[in-house]
Amino acid sequence: MVQVDLTDSTADLAHKYEALAVNSNVGNAQAQTTKGIYSSIWADHINDYRGIRMSDRALLCPTHAHAEKLDSLMSSLYDVHGNPEGTINIGVAENGLMVREYIEQYFGTALKKGLNPVDMGYGDRVSGSARLKNAIADLWNENFDPVEPVLPEHIITSTGATGILDQLTWAIVNPGDAILIAAPFYAGFDVNMVTRSGSHIVPVQIPDDEKAYLPESLQAFEDAYQKCKAEGRDVKAVLLCNPSNPLGQIYPRETLLEYAKFTERHNLHLISDEIYALSVYDNPNVTNSPNFISFLNLDVEKETGEKFDKGRVHIVYSFSKDFGANGLRVGCIISQNNPFLLRTMLHTCFLMKVSSPADVLLSELLNDKPKFKAMIAENRRRLTAASSYCREWFMARGIPAMDTVAGHFMFVDFREHLNITTFDQEKALWQRLMDVGVYTATGGAYHWKYPGFLRITFSVDQELLKVGLQRMEKELDLKISQ
Ligand SMILES: Cc1ncc(COP(=O)(O)O)c(C=O)c1O
Repeated sequence: MVQVDLTDSTADLAHKYEALAVNSNVGNAQAQTTKGIYSSIWADHINDYRGIRMSDRALLCPTHAHAEKLDSLMSSLYDVHGNPEGTINIGVAENGLMVREYIEQYFGTALKKGLNPVDMGYGDRVSGSARLKNAIADLWNENFDPVEPVLPEHIITSTGATGILDQLTWAIVNPGDAILIAAPFYAGFDVNMVTRSGSHIVPVQIPDDEKAYLPESLQAFEDAYQKCKAEGRDVKAVLLCNPSNPLGQIYPRETLLEYAKFTERHNLHLISDEIYALSVYDNPNVTNSPNFISFLNLDVEKETGEKFDKGRVHIVYSFSKDFGANGLRVGCIISQNNPFLLRTMLHTCFLMKVSSPADVLLSELLNDKPKFKAMIAENRRRLTAASSYCREWFMARGIPAMDTVAGHFMFVDFREHLNITTFDQEKALWQRLMDVGVYTATGGAYHWKYPGFLRITFSVDQELLKVGLQRMEKELDLKISQ
């Protein structure tokens, strides 16, 4: 049996795929999802399956296990009245800090106001309604100062950034081609960008000190590129996550320009995932953080004096994080100089655009500009307060928590406190917390090179966070240090 879990690196997965393909009988799915780590209503069916033959791809799919893990988690979530023993989810990036305001002040009435008869049909565009695409173009033009104004025709919408990454990767890589991403990175990339396209993600281990965000960090990309070439693997793209998930940091302008030069030198696509663009907040411990700059704000040729093909730049954005709306599933790509790419993505599955109710809710919100700005500013204040609370909580108990200035999470370092030196020990810690109803995310799942870290989401409902931390305190016998 081939056992795989979420903390496997992509390279491990690739080996296990091969083993799986060799071991599997025609028509019988022999994949086994890791048991014991979580319960899955699907895994038993997969192991017992002896039915009609599936595609080879289907044989490989269960090994990712990501979706099953989330499915299992969501079915048993904590509710103070309905399910007080349920699991507290501080492992997924969800922003509950403004949810009540959004529902009460906007979403409750927006549907009634904005929903038109045309919304009950397929609408007025297959790539997203004109209403939403105009609102997204305005959002970008008014908040991120793009060199070239964003127009509705630069945009395609889909079911969250997840849908966009899936369609985008399918369009730009051939199976086996590599995509380079600075590690640590969002664990979902290993699934969303790999499963359908067959791409091979290469985690690039950039320096983990203050040099991590400097232009010199691109040397690690050059090394990774040359290694791929020596192995006979085509590199097709670089993904930059700015602000970074999971480190919650922002890249300075000079480093973004270095990324641009690197992709031009090797003729690569440059995917800039800017999903946390408006979730930048103050952290009194960090006084020298650069401001967030969208890649569209760079005039690469003018600033570097070197030729640059703007058709390689694709911005990925979604309303899940900055607007606390994971559930609405609204994402988009903005690619200003590559209509061929947008057309191809559209052709992978037309009408995969945002559903009308979600479209109406967000368009109404974006078009109420003064109020929308006030909501974003309040969200930032709450992110500052929530992140400080969480960081100080761990620090007071002698557990180092990393400083962050963006996003919804922070890495927390249990190495010393629990004497963790291996990824197996890190997984055991994760399981221990899971057993007492606290879902966190392991550093290993993000390709972080040091075992012993958990990524904690601090932006959930603050009462929920407190219950999760209390459970953790009890289980791990954490004590306030003098
Ligand atoms: C960096 C990053 N990109 C993409 C996604 C996917 O977001 P969604 O599909 O909800 O838009 C996430 C979710 O956590 C993320 O952190």
